[in-house]
Amino acid sequence: MKTLIKNAQCVLPEGTTRTNILIEGSTIADIDPAASITADEVIDATGLHLLPGVIDDQVHFRDPGLTHKEDIHTGSLASARGGVTTFLDMPNVNPAMTTCELLERRLELAASKAVVNYGFYIGATPDNIDELKKARRTPGIKIFIGSSTGNLLVDGQDSLERIFAETTLPICAHCEDEKTVRENAERLGGGKSFADHSRIRDHEAALIATRRAVDLSTRHRHPFHVLHVSTAAEVEFLKSAPDWVTSEVCPHHLYFSVEDYDRLGSLVQMNPSVKNREDCEALWKALAEGDIDVVATDHAPHLLEEKDKPYPQSPSGVPAVENLLALMLDGVSRGRLTLDRLVRTMSENPARIWNMKGKGSIAVGHDADLVLVDQQKPHPVRNEDQITRAGWSPWHGVDLMGSPVRTLIMGRTVYANGRLDRTPHGQEVLFDRGG
Ligand code: DOR
Repeated sequence: MKTLIKNAQCVLPEGTTRTNILIEGSTIADIDPAASITADEVIDATGLHLLPGVIDDQVHFRDPGLTHKEDIHTGSLASARGGVTTFLDMPNVNPAMTTCELLERRLELAASKAVVNYGFYIGATPDNIDELKKARRTPGIKIFIGSSTGNLLVDGQDSLERIFAETTLPICAHCEDEKTVRENAERLGGGKSFADHSRIRDHEAALIATRRAVDLSTRHRHPFHVLHVSTAAEVEFLKSAPDWVTSEVCPHHLYFSVEDYDRLGSLVQMNPSVKNREDCEALWKALAEGDIDVVATDHAPHLLEEKDKPYPQSPSGVPAVENLLALMLDGVSRGRLTLDRLVRTMSENPARIWNMKGKGSIAVGHDADLVLVDQQKPHPVRNEDQITRAGWSPWHGVDLMGSPVRTLIMGRTVYANGRLDRTPHGQEVLFDRGG
């Protein structure tokens, strides 16, 4: 099967240019072939931009064990709708994914349910170092240095030293200092309001844990990725980190601050917590200037009836995967970042950081994971339209500017003109381990 995408403004690694792309089977076969070349399908993309598919390297699709909130099928459908062609999922499912056997089982599950491409981090515990050492079919190791949803936590220094010293896979971590969070919670009687969430999971907690993890990575020269940076202070600190340390921001930390608790309550309760307006501004600036490497969602769905509980029983986390690209296109429309930066941080960099084979850029021989976007098309976010099983978005009521209009996974159109192909053709991501 040959597909020709004609006349798109293509965001290539060397720059944006209006050209044609030929896909053969699941691969990009040619860039700039003659427009007259024969193909089984021709897509006229005049007026649209063609981007490499988005790689969301931080999602929680809750499968297995918590599938009343989401599963791999619903989460991957939401991804396809949003222009996300590959997701990397977190291990805080039930049972927590901390062994190679559970990883294999999860990969089998995904093969039967995923509409887009997939990979799964293996979770660290204080005593599963042997599993972490032998794991192969995974992007890397996830450490909860501070606890969040679920019971994964490694905060003992000896355990952390061993993981950084003895394993070779890249590591990413949830950085909030457990001791600081516990002390704050005690001082505030456990917390009485949603706003207390940001006093408990405060600026200090984030900075202390990020410093600690970067120190481990520096001493052990171990590739390390800081998930969901939420403070200006972390951004400043990370500027002096070694170049094998990379960092990530989530849309909710760019868009929301403590000022939004009055309006949105638990709908903006997540870990790390939202911080101050100045932190949002510092994060946007760092993103635009190349001081943050990745934008990803931390898509963490919970049902509204769960979110309706009073603090601190209300769970932390927000869904976002189907709006990720539109949120950042809206940032482009408001001059917050360039389209080029968007593609670096949402496709190229995650592919490079996690050593993915054939992903992250529009290049001959790469997988044809692609998204066409219309920068002039409004993208209204409404709860009733959300595909995630959670059925809501903290951006409900917002009209974003710029929308994904067509998503191709391995050469197949999976989303176009408001319609989704629900068949699970997603494929396991392969990782380059240097032979
Ligand atoms: O708010 C969050 N929710 N942060 C996390 O790190 C985990 C996530 C979840 O799984 O619910």
